[in-house]
Amino acid sequence: MAFPAEQPRMTHRPRRLRRTPALRRLVAQTRLHPADFILPAFVREGLTEPAPISSMPGVVQHTEQTLLEAAEEARDLGLGGIMLFGIPAERDATGSAGLDPEGILNRSIRAVKDRVGEELPVMSDVCLDEFTDHGHCGVLDAEGGVDNDATLELYARMAVVQAQSGADVVAPSGMMDGQVAVIRRSLDDAGFKHVPILAYAAKYASAFYGPFREAVDSQLTGDRRQYQMDAPNRTEALREVQLDLDEGADMVMVKPAGAYLDILSDVAQLSDVPVSAYQVSGEYAMIEAAAANGWVDRRGVVLESLLAVRRAGATNVLTYYAAEVARWLREENASVTPAQSRSS
Ligand code: PBG
Repeated sequence: MAFPAEQPRMTHRPRRLRRTPALRRLVAQTRLHPADFILPAFVREGLTEPAPISSMPGVVQHTEQTLLEAAEEARDLGLGGIMLFGIPAERDATGSAGLDPEGILNRSIRAVKDRVGEELPVMSDVCLDEFTDHGHCGVLDAEGGVDNDATLELYARMAVVQAQSGADVVAPSGMMDGQVAVIRRSLDDAGFKHVPILAYAAKYASAFYGPFREAVDSQLTGDRRQYQMDAPNRTEALREVQLDLDEGADMVMVKPAGAYLDILSDVAQLSDVPVSAYQVSGEYAMIEAAAANGWVDRRGVVLESLLAVRRAGATNVLTYYAAEVARWLREENASVTPAQSRSS
């Protein structure tokens, strides 16, 4: 059909660049690569078989042995890193199992590091909530609130023990004021000047963490609203990030990811260090639930959700899909036939 004569000629046709998959690939502004992804992994003391997490189908609490296998796979897939969370057999008021060099997390850092060597950065959660019997991220004061400054001392020691165990990156996630500064100082004093800090800088008190509480058998009653950020606030995230940068953060994180892409975009503009985003347990659970019902296309939604996080400005993404997505990306790359091999 000819263009109706009475209308002006159309010069601009954005559809020209969308005509074929190859053209679309040519102009794609954001790409996914296995190294963009960090796999969060749970290891539980005393398990003999991996234990499924019912609200996160496909994710397990690892035994110390299966954690090593997951880490090897992560390395072989070329993932950006693995983030370890430990679940101890015994908990107490001050989370002492988290500071014990023989505790589940530190022992696992050592074992994973021994297994994967330099090729896979091993990151560890610096936070007490998995280790306290009350489930809060720090120690409690007389009124039952979390005592910021008393907690800092424990984080400082915890980070050093993790570095001694071989952590390549330590990641304080407790949202205590001043945590990056005390951890930086204690790492330096202990001879770990080279160990970077990935600061959970803008971490919101979020209902999207629900399934994680099951994943770590959290003992928490109540919430974390006195220390994690409040969902209505946007500019406060920039303040939190700026403080962490001033305190020496080497990377900063926004968490959760999907419902906080505005925050991520702001932070990516402000930050002169790499920005991570955490696609958290509830984001995973929602996709899995909808896909299991046949309501959305699982692979399409997973890839699009991660693309959105990268497009908003994340350098890398913590996601429970890390290994699976890396396998998909491999398949896709393998199916693109290089032009040269075709012409011969
Ligand atoms: C705290 C921590 C939490 C998550 C990561 N680190 C829980 C919380 O702050 O309540 C949540 C991750 C997720 O939901 O996937 N150690």
